[in-house]
Amino acid sequence: MKNIILVGPMGAGKSTIGRLLAKELRLPFRDSDKEIEQRTGAGIPLIFDVEGEQGFREREHAAIQDLCQMRGVVLATGGGAVLRQDNREVLRTGGQVIYLCTSVDQQLDRTSRDRNRPLLQAPNPREVLTGLMAVRDPLYREIADIIIQTDERPPRLVVQEILSRL
Ligand code: S3P
Repeated sequence: MKNIILVGPMGAGKSTIGRLLAKELRLPFRDSDKEIEQRTGAGIPLIFDVEGEQGFREREHAAIQDLCQMRGVVLATGGGAVLRQDNREVLRTGGQVIYLCTSVDQQLDRTSRDRNRPLLQAPNPREVLTGLMAVRDPLYREIADIIIQTDERPPRLVVQEILSRL
């Protein structure tokens, strides 16, 4: 069985939906951010503090490369996983890629109380998220086999739609 790889911005619901989807399909669930934290023995904010975003991206690249070698897993990726061309290639060839597409309003709503995302610890997270989407939306689309809108929809409905389109 091919891997199922979820991409999309922070707050798209990749982890929640990935976990539910994996349960439905009886497949293991993996999350690239969790993998990085386990390998490093540190949380993402600390990695950003000590090594900067560049250091985090190197660790993310290594984790994604390894996770995409697996077979038959549901994989949730960090919102910036598509930034590097080599990551996009690994993701595109590593399984069926699903882009969970979400408005900036919804992203803000879902991330506002979360202090675990260093890029959003800025005075104006709306501006940050809008800027990131402008750059990243074409990159998510470039590698997506399936695009699914997650705005205002409970995770279970999103999972049902994914299952019907696989
Ligand atoms: C990031 C998204 C985060 C995490 C890191 C950077 C990004 O993952 O990888 O904070 O660049 O968008 P989630 O998309 O799971 O929040």
